[in-house]
Amino acid sequence: MSENQPLPPDDDEDLPFPLDDDDDAAAPEELPTDDFPIEIEGLTNSFGEQVIHEDLSLKVRRGEILGVVGGSGTGKSVLMRSIIGLQIPEHGCIKVFGRDITAAEDDSEIKIRYRWGVLFQGGALFSTLTVGENVQVPLKQYYPELSAELLDEIARYKVVMSGLPEEAASKFPSELSGGMKKRAGLARALALDPELLFLDEPTAGLDPIGAAMFDELLRELTDTLGLTVFLITHDLDTLYAICDRVAVLADKHVVAVGTIPELLETDHPWIQEYFNGPRARAALSAKERHAKAGVAVDKPGKAGA
Ligand SMILES: Nc1ncnc2c1ncn2[C@@H]1O[C@H](COP(=O)(O)OP(=O)(O)OP(=O)(O)O)[C@@H](O)[C@H]1O
Ligand SMILES: [Mg+2]
Repeated sequence: MSENQPLPPDDDEDLPFPLDDDDDAAAPEELPTDDFPIEIEGLTNSFGEQVIHEDLSLKVRRGEILGVVGGSGTGKSVLMRSIIGLQIPEHGCIKVFGRDITAAEDDSEIKIRYRWGVLFQGGALFSTLTVGENVQVPLKQYYPELSAELLDEIARYKVVMSGLPEEAASKFPSELSGGMKKRAGLARALALDPELLFLDEPTAGLDPIGAAMFDELLRELTDTLGLTVFLITHDLDTLYAICDRVAVLADKHVVAVGTIPELLETDHPWIQEYFNGPRARAALSAKERHAKAGVAVDKPGKAGA
Protein backbone atom coordinates (compact mmCIF):
# COMPACT_ATOMS: atom_id res chain seq x y z
CA MET A 1 0.00 0.00 0.00
CA SER A 2 1.48 3.35 -0.94
CA GLU A 3 1.83 5.91 1.79
CA ASN A 4 -0.89 8.13 0.44
CA GLN A 5 -3.55 5.45 0.30
CA PRO A 6 -6.50 6.14 2.58
CA LEU A 7 -6.13 4.68 6.03
CA PRO A 8 -8.23 1.64 6.77
CA PRO A 9 -11.26 2.28 9.01
CA ASP A 10 -9.66 0.32 11.88
CA ASP A 11 -7.08 3.05 12.34
CA ASP A 12 -9.81 5.62 12.94
CA GLU A 13 -9.19 5.82 16.68
CA ASP A 14 -5.62 6.94 16.27
CA LEU A 15 -6.46 9.74 13.87
CA PRO A 16 -6.62 13.38 14.90
CA PHE A 17 -9.66 13.72 12.64
CA PRO A 18 -12.72 11.64 11.74
CA LEU A 19 -12.85 9.48 8.68
CA ASP A 20 -16.02 9.60 6.63
CA ASP A 21 -18.73 7.74 8.54
CA ASP A 22 -19.82 6.11 5.35
CA ASP A 23 -17.92 2.82 5.28
CA ASP A 24 -18.34 2.93 1.56
CA ALA A 25 -15.78 5.71 1.40
CA ALA A 26 -12.90 3.52 2.48
CA ALA A 27 -14.09 0.05 1.54
CA PRO A 28 -11.45 -1.67 -0.57
CA GLU A 29 -13.98 -2.89 -3.10
CA GLU A 30 -11.99 -1.61 -6.06
CA LEU A 31 -9.53 -4.48 -6.26
CA PRO A 32 -10.55 -5.68 -9.70
CA THR A 33 -9.86 -2.27 -11.21
CA ASP A 34 -6.73 -1.64 -9.19
CA ASP A 35 -4.57 -1.19 -12.24
CA PHE A 36 -6.88 1.46 -13.66
CA PRO A 37 -7.91 4.19 -11.20
CA ILE A 38 -9.95 5.80 -14.00
CA GLU A 39 -12.08 3.82 -16.47
CA ILE A 40 -14.30 5.60 -18.96
CA GLU A 41 -16.60 3.66 -21.24
CA GLY A 42 -18.90 4.98 -23.96
CA LEU A 43 -19.02 8.57 -22.68
CA THR A 44 -21.30 11.10 -24.38
CA ASN A 45 -21.45 14.78 -23.36
CA SER A 46 -23.43 17.52 -25.07
CA PHE A 47 -24.37 21.13 -24.50
CA GLY A 48 -27.65 21.63 -26.31
CA GLU A 49 -27.07 20.69 -29.93
CA GLN A 50 -23.31 20.69 -29.52
CA VAL A 51 -21.98 17.18 -28.99
CA ILE A 52 -18.61 17.35 -27.22
CA HIS A 53 -17.90 13.67 -26.62
CA GLU A 54 -19.41 10.67 -28.33
CA ASP A 55 -18.68 7.10 -27.28
CA LEU A 56 -15.43 8.13 -25.65
CA SER A 57 -13.49 5.43 -23.83
CA LEU A 58 -10.23 5.68 -21.89
CA LYS A 59 -8.41 3.85 -19.14
CA VAL A 60 -5.79 5.54 -17.01
CA ARG A 61 -3.14 3.27 -15.51
CA ARG A 62 -2.10 3.41 -11.90
CA GLY A 63 1.15 5.31 -11.41
CA GLU A 64 1.31 6.92 -14.82
CA ILE A 65 1.34 10.50 -15.96
CA LEU A 66 -1.18 10.46 -18.77
CA GLY A 67 -0.92 13.49 -21.02
CA VAL A 68 -4.25 14.52 -22.55
CA VAL A 69 -4.01 16.55 -25.74
CA GLY A 70 -6.38 17.80 -28.40
CA GLY A 71 -7.21 20.99 -30.24
CA SER A 72 -8.74 23.87 -28.33
CA GLY A 73 -12.42 23.17 -27.68
CA THR A 74 -12.19 19.42 -28.23
CA GLY A 75 -13.46 18.83 -24.70
CA LYS A 76 -10.39 18.14 -22.56
CA SER A 77 -11.58 20.27 -19.65
CA VAL A 78 -15.12 18.93 -19.97
CA LEU A 79 -13.70 15.41 -19.84
CA MET A 80 -11.81 16.22 -16.65
CA ARG A 81 -14.93 17.78 -15.14
CA SER A 82 -16.87 14.64 -16.02
CA ILE A 83 -14.36 12.41 -14.27
CA ILE A 84 -14.53 14.41 -11.07
CA GLY A 85 -18.32 14.52 -11.16
CA LEU A 86 -18.83 18.19 -12.04
CA GLN A 87 -20.32 17.42 -15.42
CA ILE A 88 -23.00 14.75 -15.60
CA PRO A 89 -22.72 12.93 -18.91
CA GLU A 90 -25.65 11.92 -21.09
CA HIS A 91 -24.43 8.39 -21.57
CA GLY A 92 -21.59 6.20 -20.54
CA CYS A 93 -19.87 5.04 -17.42
CA ILE A 94 -16.98 6.64 -15.56
CA LYS A 95 -15.42 4.65 -12.77
CA VAL A 96 -12.89 6.17 -10.42
CA PHE A 97 -11.30 3.64 -8.07
CA GLY A 98 -14.01 1.28 -9.21
CA ARG A 99 -16.88 3.60 -8.18
CA ASP A 100 -19.35 4.71 -10.81
CA ILE A 101 -19.14 8.50 -10.67
CA THR A 102 -22.07 8.92 -13.02
CA ALA A 103 -24.38 7.04 -10.65
CA ALA A 104 -24.22 9.89 -8.12
CA GLU A 105 -27.38 12.04 -8.05
CA ASP A 106 -25.30 15.11 -7.33
CA ASP A 107 -21.65 15.76 -6.62
CA SER A 108 -22.16 15.77 -2.83
CA GLU A 109 -22.78 12.04 -3.17
CA ILE A 110 -19.31 11.42 -4.46
CA LYS A 111 -17.58 10.15 -1.34
CA ILE A 112 -14.14 9.64 -2.81
CA ARG A 113 -13.31 13.27 -3.54
CA TYR A 114 -10.64 13.27 -0.86
CA ARG A 115 -8.72 10.72 -2.94
CA TRP A 116 -8.04 13.21 -5.74
CA GLY A 117 -6.63 16.70 -6.09
CA VAL A 118 -7.43 19.14 -8.87
CA LEU A 119 -5.64 22.08 -10.43
CA PHE A 120 -8.18 23.76 -12.68
CA GLN A 121 -7.30 25.60 -15.87
CA GLY A 122 -6.42 29.12 -14.72
CA GLY A 123 -5.52 28.09 -11.19
CA ALA A 124 -8.63 29.37 -9.42
CA LEU A 125 -6.98 30.32 -6.14
CA PHE A 126 -9.18 32.30 -3.75
CA SER A 127 -7.77 35.81 -4.09
CA THR A 128 -8.84 36.95 -0.61
CA LEU A 129 -7.05 34.06 1.09
CA THR A 130 -3.32 33.61 1.55
CA VAL A 131 -1.63 30.68 -0.15
CA GLY A 132 -1.59 28.79 3.14
CA GLU A 133 -5.30 29.49 3.68
CA ASN A 134 -6.01 28.32 0.14
CA VAL A 135 -4.29 25.02 0.91
CA GLN A 136 -6.32 24.75 4.11
CA VAL A 137 -9.67 25.00 2.29
CA PRO A 138 -9.93 21.29 1.39
CA LEU A 139 -8.35 20.28 4.69
CA LYS A 140 -11.01 22.19 6.66
CA GLN A 141 -13.74 20.75 4.48
CA TYR A 142 -12.72 17.15 5.09
CA TYR A 143 -11.15 17.38 8.52
CA PRO A 144 -13.01 20.17 10.36
CA GLU A 145 -11.66 19.03 13.69
CA LEU A 146 -8.01 19.76 12.89
CA SER A 147 -6.57 22.47 15.08
CA ALA A 148 -5.50 25.78 13.56
CA GLU A 149 -1.87 24.93 14.37
CA LEU A 150 -2.01 21.59 12.61
CA LEU A 151 -3.80 23.09 9.60
CA ASP A 152 -1.10 25.73 9.36
CA GLU A 153 1.65 23.14 9.68
CA ILE A 154 0.18 20.87 7.00
CA ALA A 155 -0.40 23.81 4.66
CA ARG A 156 3.19 24.99 5.04
CA TYR A 157 4.43 21.47 4.39
CA LYS A 158 2.42 21.29 1.15
CA VAL A 159 3.66 24.72 0.10
CA VAL A 160 7.27 23.63 0.52
CA MET A 161 6.56 20.29 -1.15
CA SER A 162 5.33 22.23 -4.18
CA GLY A 163 8.62 24.03 -4.51
CA LEU A 164 7.69 27.36 -2.92
CA PRO A 165 9.55 28.98 -0.06
CA GLU A 166 7.73 28.54 3.25
CA GLU A 167 7.13 32.31 3.47
CA ALA A 168 4.93 32.05 0.38
CA ALA A 169 2.25 30.52 2.62
CA SER A 170 1.57 33.98 4.07
CA LYS A 171 1.33 35.73 0.71
CA PHE A 172 -1.83 36.49 -1.23
CA PRO A 173 -2.15 35.21 -4.82
CA SER A 174 -1.79 38.77 -6.14
CA GLU A 175 1.69 38.88 -4.58
CA LEU A 176 2.89 35.83 -6.51
CA SER A 177 4.37 35.39 -9.97
CA GLY A 178 2.52 33.20 -12.49
CA GLY A 179 4.81 30.27 -11.80
CA MET A 180 4.38 30.64 -8.06
CA LYS A 181 0.60 30.66 -8.50
CA LYS A 182 0.80 27.35 -10.35
CA ARG A 183 2.83 25.88 -7.52
CA ALA A 184 0.38 27.25 -4.99
CA GLY A 185 -2.43 25.60 -6.95
CA LEU A 186 -0.44 22.37 -6.91
CA ALA A 187 0.01 22.70 -3.14
CA ARG A 188 -3.75 22.99 -2.74
CA ALA A 189 -4.32 20.02 -5.05
CA LEU A 190 -1.93 17.99 -2.86
CA ALA A 191 -3.58 19.10 0.39
CA LEU A 192 -5.44 15.85 1.06
CA ASP A 193 -2.59 13.50 0.07
CA PRO A 194 -4.45 12.44 -3.06
CA GLU A 195 -3.75 9.30 -5.06
CA LEU A 196 -5.00 10.93 -8.23
CA LEU A 197 -4.02 14.34 -9.51
CA PHE A 198 -5.94 16.24 -12.21
CA LEU A 199 -4.02 19.09 -13.77
CA ASP A 200 -5.50 21.27 -16.49
CA GLU A 201 -2.80 23.17 -18.37
CA PRO A 202 -0.50 23.59 -15.35
CA THR A 203 2.39 25.09 -17.32
CA ALA A 204 0.38 27.42 -19.57
CA GLY A 205 1.83 30.90 -19.42
CA LEU A 206 5.08 29.87 -17.77
CA ASP A 207 8.43 30.64 -19.33
CA PRO A 208 10.22 27.54 -20.69
CA ILE A 209 12.55 27.17 -17.73
CA GLY A 210 9.73 27.64 -15.23
CA ALA A 211 7.68 25.08 -17.14
CA ALA A 212 10.57 22.62 -17.20
CA MET A 213 11.05 22.97 -13.47
CA PHE A 214 7.34 22.46 -12.85
CA ASP A 215 7.46 19.33 -15.03
CA GLU A 216 10.39 17.98 -13.08
CA LEU A 217 8.65 18.61 -9.77
CA LEU A 218 5.56 16.84 -11.03
CA ARG A 219 7.51 13.80 -12.18
CA GLU A 220 9.30 13.62 -8.87
CA LEU A 221 6.11 13.95 -6.82
CA THR A 222 4.41 11.35 -8.98
CA ASP A 223 7.19 8.86 -8.41
CA THR A 224 7.76 9.51 -4.73
CA LEU A 225 4.10 9.75 -3.71
CA GLY A 226 2.88 7.03 -6.06
CA LEU A 227 0.44 9.38 -7.78
CA THR A 228 -1.56 8.81 -10.93
CA VAL A 229 -1.77 12.00 -12.98
CA PHE A 230 -4.34 13.11 -15.56
CA LEU A 231 -2.48 15.97 -17.19
CA ILE A 232 -4.16 18.15 -19.80
CA THR A 233 -1.56 20.09 -21.70
CA HIS A 234 -0.72 21.77 -24.98
CA ASP A 235 2.92 21.77 -24.02
CA LEU A 236 4.85 19.44 -26.29
CA ASP A 237 7.90 19.73 -24.09
CA THR A 238 5.90 18.43 -21.15
CA LEU A 239 4.56 15.55 -23.22
CA TYR A 240 8.02 14.49 -24.32
CA ALA A 241 9.69 15.07 -20.98
CA ILE A 242 7.42 13.54 -18.36
CA CYS A 243 4.36 11.77 -19.77
CA ASP A 244 4.30 7.98 -19.74
CA ARG A 245 1.50 7.90 -22.30
CA VAL A 246 -0.55 10.44 -24.19
CA ALA A 247 -4.28 10.31 -24.99
CA VAL A 248 -5.40 12.26 -28.03
CA LEU A 249 -8.88 13.81 -28.15
CA ALA A 250 -10.22 14.43 -31.63
CA ASP A 251 -13.46 13.76 -33.50
CA LYS A 252 -15.35 13.70 -30.14
CA HIS A 253 -13.46 10.77 -28.67
CA VAL A 254 -10.02 9.45 -27.76
CA VAL A 255 -8.60 8.56 -31.16
CA ALA A 256 -5.37 7.12 -29.79
CA VAL A 257 -3.54 6.52 -26.55
CA GLY A 258 0.04 5.38 -26.18
CA THR A 259 3.62 6.52 -26.00
CA ILE A 260 4.61 9.24 -28.43
CA PRO A 261 6.46 6.75 -30.70
CA GLU A 262 3.29 4.63 -30.71
CA LEU A 263 1.17 7.63 -31.58
CA LEU A 264 3.50 8.51 -34.43
CA GLU A 265 2.75 5.15 -35.98
CA THR A 266 -0.90 6.09 -36.40
CA ASP A 267 -1.93 7.98 -39.51
CA HIS A 268 -4.49 10.27 -37.88
CA PRO A 269 -3.92 13.68 -39.51
CA TRP A 270 -4.17 15.70 -36.28
CA ILE A 271 -1.68 13.41 -34.54
CA GLN A 272 0.73 13.62 -37.44
CA GLU A 273 0.46 17.38 -37.62
CA TYR A 274 0.82 17.80 -33.88
CA PHE A 275 3.64 15.35 -33.20
CA ASN A 276 5.46 15.59 -36.51
CA GLY A 277 5.18 19.30 -37.20
CA PRO A 278 7.96 21.86 -36.74
CA ARG A 279 6.96 22.62 -33.14
CA ALA A 280 7.12 18.95 -32.25
CA ARG A 281 10.54 18.62 -33.79
CA ALA A 282 11.68 21.57 -31.72
CA ALA A 283 10.23 19.94 -28.63
CA LEU A 284 12.37 16.90 -29.20
CA SER A 285 15.20 19.00 -27.86
CA ALA A 286 13.26 19.51 -24.63
CA LYS A 287 15.59 17.29 -22.68
CA GLU A 288 18.57 19.36 -23.64
CA ARG A 289 16.67 22.45 -22.61
CA HIS A 290 15.75 20.86 -19.33
CA ALA A 291 19.38 19.91 -18.81
CA LYS A 292 20.37 23.54 -19.38
CA ALA A 293 17.82 24.55 -16.77
CA GLY A 294 19.66 22.30 -14.37
CA VAL A 295 16.96 19.66 -14.02
CA ALA A 296 17.21 15.99 -14.86
CA VAL A 297 14.11 14.76 -16.64
CA ASP A 298 15.18 11.37 -17.81
CA LYS A 299 13.29 9.39 -15.22
CA PRO A 300 11.00 6.72 -16.54
CA GLY A 301 7.59 6.63 -14.88
CA LYS A 302 6.50 3.70 -12.77
CA ALA A 303 3.76 2.78 -15.16
CA GLY A 304 6.26 2.47 -17.96
CA ALA A 305 5.07 2.73 -21.50
N1 LIG B 1 -20.71 24.87 -19.25
C1 LIG B 1 -20.71 24.87 -20.59
N2 LIG B 1 -21.81 25.23 -21.29
C2 LIG B 1 -21.82 25.20 -22.63
N3 LIG B 1 -20.77 24.83 -23.39
C3 LIG B 1 -19.65 24.48 -22.76
C4 LIG B 1 -19.55 24.48 -21.34
N4 LIG B 1 -18.32 24.06 -20.98
C5 LIG B 1 -17.66 23.83 -22.13
N5 LIG B 1 -18.46 24.08 -23.20
C6 LIG B 1 -18.08 23.90 -24.60
O1 LIG B 1 -17.56 22.60 -24.74
C7 LIG B 1 -16.49 22.61 -25.68
C8 LIG B 1 -15.28 21.95 -25.05
O2 LIG B 1 -14.81 22.80 -24.02
P1 LIG B 1 -13.51 22.48 -23.17
O3 LIG B 1 -13.39 23.59 -22.20
O4 LIG B 1 -13.58 21.12 -22.65
O5 LIG B 1 -12.39 22.56 -24.29
P2 LIG B 1 -10.85 22.26 -24.13
O6 LIG B 1 -10.51 21.10 -24.98
O7 LIG B 1 -10.51 22.19 -22.70
O8 LIG B 1 -10.23 23.57 -24.80
P3 LIG B 1 -8.91 24.42 -24.38
O9 LIG B 1 -7.74 23.67 -24.91
O10 LIG B 1 -9.12 25.72 -25.09
O11 LIG B 1 -8.91 24.58 -22.90
C9 LIG B 1 -16.28 24.04 -26.09
O12 LIG B 1 -16.91 24.25 -27.34
C10 LIG B 1 -16.98 24.84 -25.02
O13 LIG B 1 -17.50 26.02 -25.53
MG1 LIG C 1 -9.55 23.42 -21.36
